[in-house]
Amino acid sequence: MSKVTVVGAGAVGATCANVMACREVASEVVLVDIKEGLSEGKMLDMYQTSTLMDFDTKLVGATNDYKKTANSDVVVVTSGIPRKPGMTREELIGTNANIMKGVVEQIVKYSPRAIIIVVANPMDTLTYLALKASGLPKNRIIGMGGALDSSRFKCYLAKATGANINNIDGMVIGGHGDTTMLPLLSKATVNGVPVAQFASKKKLQEAVQATMVGGATLTKLIGTSAWYAPGAAAAMMVEAILHDQKKMIPCSCYLEGEYGQSDICIGVPAIIGRKGIEKIVKIELTKDEAAKFAESAAAVRKTNNVLHEIKAL
Ligand code: 2OP
Repeated sequence: MSKVTVVGAGAVGATCANVMACREVASEVVLVDIKEGLSEGKMLDMYQTSTLMDFDTKLVGATNDYKKTANSDVVVVTSGIPRKPGMTREELIGTNANIMKGVVEQIVKYSPRAIIIVVANPMDTLTYLALKASGLPKNRIIGMGGALDSSRFKCYLAKATGANINNIDGMVIGGHGDTTMLPLLSKATVNGVPVAQFASKKKLQEAVQATMVGGATLTKLIGTSAWYAPGAAAAMMVEAILHDQKKMIPCSCYLEGEYGQSDICIGVPAIIGRKGIEKIVKIELTKDEAAKFAESAAAVRKTNNVLHEIKAL
């Protein structure tokens, strides 16, 4: 028996719940939202796909009723306002930090053993806030960004190299921001063979640039923030936890000296299993990558400082 709560029944939260239901990741999925009826309606609609999609996950909608979320093993927090075209993720901090604090309080009250996955933006800063506000151990607070950014990186690398997308391996570390994320070209491969063998330097650099603004590109096209890949990335992380998969996933982790950084949540490769973040994996970065990682951390830290200015911490 396992139970997952998704907070926020917007497009990302509902997609995450739907992917988990279809893959039978947990026995029960609860969707919470403040808007009257929204989560109940979405879960009822989803339940009606059970025979079509061949799953029997218990699906529960809860309008602001955290009692229904009690004893969740994992809670995914997507609640908050999404960015509009032209906005950065960092501009959302005022509203979303307050929402995050309120949500974390309820999670800890009803599910004191839960592992929390933060999806809302600015993701690294809200992961840091969730850690500080909850008082939970650092292995139980994980930010989703790197999982999503890496899946986008793989798409653009497949285009650049012409390789089958499922033969691509690639990782994005650093902050989940248009200028802070760090796609690791030096580690990207087609079935273990360096991507440099399959595409020109120029094409690969274009793939890196496209990855970094991947979310902004979608926001411009759709008019609001994306949901299929963000929702699926969070669902994949829940699966890694509940099924104790020990997958290496780049995600926002609290660092205490790793990669030369402390007192910050930022994307690094980590082993994700039943205990949450089970190990931070130290990989060799090139000189240029190490410098960019340090710059990225400085930018994330600047956004973290805003938490003090707005008295969220
Ligand atoms: C994105 O990059 C939602 O931040 C998320 O699409």
